[in-house]
Amino acid sequence: MKKTISKPPNINSTIRISGDKSISHRAAILNAMAEGTSEVKNFCVGDDQESIIRCLRSLGTNISHTINYQDNHPIHTFTIIGNGKHGFKEPKSPLDCGNSGTCMRLISGLLAGQKFNTLLIGDDSLSKRPMNRIANPLKLMGTTITPLNNSSTDEIMAPFEIKGSNLNSINYKSPVSSAQVKSCILIAGAYAKGITTITEPSKSRDHTERMMKAMGAEIEINDKEISIKNSKLKAQNIVIPGDISSAAFWIILAACHKKAELLIPNIGLNPTRTGILEVLTKMGANINISNQKTELGEPRGDLIIKSSNLKGITIEGSIIPKIIDEIPILSLAACFASGETIIKDAQELRVKESDRIKATVQELFKLGANISETKDGMIIKNSPKLNGSEVNSHGDHRIAMMLGISGLLAEDQTTITNAEAANISYPDFWDQIDNF
Ligand code: S3P
Repeated sequence: MKKTISKPPNINSTIRISGDKSISHRAAILNAMAEGTSEVKNFCVGDDQESIIRCLRSLGTNISHTINYQDNHPIHTFTIIGNGKHGFKEPKSPLDCGNSGTCMRLISGLLAGQKFNTLLIGDDSLSKRPMNRIANPLKLMGTTITPLNNSSTDEIMAPFEIKGSNLNSINYKSPVSSAQVKSCILIAGAYAKGITTITEPSKSRDHTERMMKAMGAEIEINDKEISIKNSKLKAQNIVIPGDISSAAFWIILAACHKKAELLIPNIGLNPTRTGILEVLTKMGANINISNQKTELGEPRGDLIIKSSNLKGITIEGSIIPKIIDEIPILSLAACFASGETIIKDAQELRVKESDRIKATVQELFKLGANISETKDGMIIKNSPKLNGSEVNSHGDHRIAMMLGISGLLAEDQTTITNAEAANISYPDFWDQIDNF
C-alpha cells in the first residue's frame, strides 16, 4: 500500500491511542499461566496482538474477545480463562509468532517449562532476528533448543523447536539490556526449582516483574537485578494504559509543527518507558501531564503537547533501553532541533524488525535531512525544511509511522510505500492522519 501525505496548516485535536503492546502481551501470557479468569480491557490492537492471542489459543487457552465503543473509539477486551502453569496442551501445528519478537521470546520462557515440545515459526523479518539471547539462558536452565535450518552462523534463528523440561534455576548476567530476554527468563523462572536471578547492564522496561508481583509471584525487584522463586500466579483484571511508544509519533508531531496543540489521554507513564518524555523535555519540548493515577502497578495520565523550539542534545548510555522503540521518531524531532543531536549506544536498533539505524538514515536523507549513520547510532544536524519525496517503510511498522509524521511536517507531498507495515502495532494510524 502507498500513502500520500501533505502538511496541515495547523494541528489541534485529541488523539486516542490503543492499549500498550508490551503490557498487553504480558497480561495475555501471565493470565494464561495463572489460576482463575481475568478480564483484560483496552488490549492493544494490531497484527502483533493477533499473534500472541493465536499462540495462546493453540496452547489450549480459552480467550474471548469483545469490542465496546467510548467516544467512537473501539475498546478491546479479552477474557482469559487461565490454564494454570501446567494446564497447557501440545499445539497441533507450529506456533506462528508472525512479526512479533515479544511473542516469540516471552512465550519461549513458558514453553521451556512444559512437558511437550513446540516448534516456533515467524515471518521473514522475525526469522532473521537473534534468538541466542534467550536460547543461551534457557539451555542453562535445562531446555534443548534446536533450530530447523542449518544456518552458517552460530546464531539460533526461527524456526526452532523448544523441548519442555524440568527447569533448574540460574543466576544469569544478561549481556544485553532487553526486556524480552529478562521476561523470558522470569517466566521460565516461575517454573524452575529454586531461585532464578537475572541482572541486566541497564534497566529495561519492567512490566513483567510489576505484573508478576501483582499476580502473587515470589519475586524480588532490586533495580537491574530481579529474582523469582518457583511461583503460581493468580489471574488479575487489568485496564491497559495507552501505548507511549504509539503516542510518541503524535508527541513529536505536535512539538515540531509550528501551530499545534494535542491532547493524548490515558497514556502509560511507567518510568522505564517515559525516557521519550525525559529526552524531549531536555530538548525543550512543551509537554504537560495531568490526571495521573496507578492501576495494577502501572502509572498512567493525560498528555498535552504544544509547538516547541527544540534544541539538539547527546542521547546515550542507560536512557537508551528506555527509548529503544522511539529512536526513529526522535531522529525526526532532531531534524527540527537547533544544532546537532548525537545518538550513541543504540546498536540494538540494528536487530529490530529492520535495521532501524540504516532505515531511518536512508529514508530521512531522501527527505533532505542532514543525517548520518554511525556504528551504534546517528548524528543529525538541524534540517527543519524537509521536502516531500517517495520513501519506504522497509516493512517495519515504526519506520512507516515515523515517515507518516515526516510527511505531515515536510513541504509538498510525501509518499510512503509499504505503508501497511503500520498494522503491526497501529492499524488506525493512517485513518487518524487522514483526519488532520
Ligand atoms: C519489548 C521490548 C523491546 C522493544 C520491543 C518490545 C517488550 O525489545 O524493542 O518492541 O515488550 O518487552 P528488547 O527488550 O529486546 O530491547
